[in-house]
Amino acid sequence: MSFFPRISIKVPVSVPLALFMAVMLSGAIDAQNKPKKETIDFNENCLKCHGQSKYKYLNPESGSEVTKRMYAETIINRTEFYDSNHKTFKCTDCHSEEYGTFPHAGNLRMESKYACIDCHGGDETYAKFQFEKIESEFHESVHSTKHSEDFNCWMCHNPHSYKISVRSEDKIKDIVAYDNAICLNCHADITNYQMLTDKVNPNIVKKHEWLPNQALHFKNVRCIECHARTNDSILVAHNIQPKAKAVRRCVECHSTNSILMASLYKYKVQEGRSKAGFYNGVIMNEGYVIGANRNYYLGILSLIMFGCVAAGILIHASLRILKRKK
Ligand code: HEC
Ligand code: HEC
Ligand code: HEC
Ligand code: HEC
Ligand code: HEC
Ligand code: HEC
Ligand code: HEC
Repeated sequence: MSFFPRISIKVPVSVPLALFMAVMLSGAIDAQNKPKKETIDFNENCLKCHGQSKYKYLNPESGSEVTKRMYAETIINRTEFYDSNHKTFKCTDCHSEEYGTFPHAGNLRMESKYACIDCHGGDETYAKFQFEKIESEFHESVHSTKHSEDFNCWMCHNPHSYKISVRSEDKIKDIVAYDNAICLNCHADITNYQMLTDKVNPNIVKKHEWLPNQALHFKNVRCIECHARTNDSILVAHNIQPKAKAVRRCVECHSTNSILMASLYKYKVQEGRSKAGFYNGVIMNEGYVIGANRNYYLGILSLIMFGCVAAGILIHASLRILKRKK
């Protein structure tokens, strides 16, 4: 859509300056965020066993090397780990150093785990994420109220792979896929679901049969759009509501004041606004929710029509004036 140029103002001095800043900043971020070589080497002490589907150890009694299968749940994918938010971590930053010995001591199972807030709470660096607000929203959600302490942040934020998606440069469809996979990890997987309850897992496809073109919707909107209460002060709503309160009305999205502007598109809208200086760039570029952008086109169309009518009147009038003068 090129009704408006993307970058409209060109100030000669600011361009090289901005470039310089960008290079400096990206350099700084890179240096800070890359895992150190010593960390990677250290983590291999764990990943030589936990990094794939089998592991080996020396049996001191027989003196021979034994090869065993690693349980799927205890396998950590190196690529995902070093791509995650916590990629600069040593395994033992979160786990006891005693895991350095094998077989692991039995009491290590009882070790309590850090919560997000233990590290991120009250820290200025992460203020924009609003951890405290997210936590209190989460505590009001169905998951927390029904399962209290059993259901914690790690259930959705895999400690070994969670990475920011919504604030990334990713396309909306990729963000939707990433976020929905988090929910489907339980809601489409009976084993994970039943770790928390003995209930039969409701069939997600059947439960959403009322939604036309369900597959298309699930690719274009996140589960939380319909299931979480939006909150102006945080970017990702965490208060999952009971099913009776879920969004079912089509106009909630398919209208000019679509709830998507306050949720899914929120970040892109904010970014878009500050970058390009005009409002619904997101919808123009990738959103295309029918209804939500209709007004825009209608607006343009009516402007063109108005222009034509005005021009028509003008030509007509001037022709008449010219004729009269003759
Ligand atoms: C020789 C292979 C081997 C090495 C090396 C190894 N582990 Fe393990 N680890 C296992 C196996 C097998 C299990 C599952 C059985 C058990 O709990 O002992 C396991 C289980 C675990 C568990 C889950 C315990 C539970 O049940 O809650 C954690 C956490 C863990 N390892 C962390 C580590 C860390 C951190 C390191 C590196 C400092 C490490 N492991 C090194 C083989 C290994
Ligand atoms: C940011 C903190 C963090 C880091 C870094 C981390 N872990 Fe974990 N890990 C956790 C938490 C929290 C759990 C428990 C998850 C749960 O209970 O759902 C866990 C669980 C595990 C388990 C048991 C999985 C299971 O489901 O039984 C293994 C094995 C493990 N970690 C190994 C590692 C290894 C190896 C590394 C380094 C490559 C590592 N962890 C790095 C926080 C971390
Ligand atoms: C043991 C302490 C610790 C725990 C527990 C922990 N974090 Fe972190 N987290 C950090 C540190 C330190 C960084 C910065 C890492 C870096 O810059 O390489 C970080 C980075 C992040 C980032 C990226 C910030 C950015 O600006 O890119 C997010 C998001 C995040 N953590 C969310 C979480 C969530 C959600 C949880 C719980 C599920 C959690 N963290 C648990 C210490 C922790
Ligand atoms: C039911 C699943 C679920 C639970 C439980 C959950 N989260 Fe999240 N959280 C998400 C999803 C989905 C996202 C969006 C990830 C993305 O696209 O970047 C997210 C994003 C975040 C972010 C990044 C927000 C931003 O502004 O970029 C933080 C921080 C966070 N969660 C913290 C927490 C904390 C702390 C807890 C526990 C109190 C928690 N979450 C529990 C699903 C969950
Ligand atoms: C367009 C809005 C919308 C989207 C998108 C959506 N849902 Fe729903 N969902 C609903 C509504 C409305 C209900 C209530 C249906 C009923 O009660 O018959 C519901 C019901 C549910 C239930 C309760 C099922 C039961 O009867 O116990 C679960 C669980 C659920 N959805 C999970 C999800 C997950 C996971 C996703 C993402 C893959 C998702 N939903 C996407 C609107 C939506
Ligand atoms: C760790 C597993 C797990 C994850 C991840 C998870 N859920 Fe759930 N969810 C459950 C369980 C278990 C229940 C059943 C709660 C109960 O009734 O006891 C549930 C219930 C629900 C309900 C129905 C509440 C009702 O009224 O019956 C909705 C809606 C829902 N989840 C949406 C989501 C969404 C959206 C996400 C992703 C942001 C998500 N869930 C992620 C396990 C999970
Ligand atoms: C949570 C927001 C949301 C809700 C609620 C919602 N939709 Fe959608 N709908 C979307 C998005 C986003 C798309 C994807 C648009 C695209 O990519 O073409 C879409 C696409 C569609 C399409 C497909 C158009 C095409 O290109 O083929 C139809 C038809 C549709 N919706 C009808 C409905 C109806 C009927 C309802 C109510 C029962 C509904 N929607 C509820 C967000 C929503």
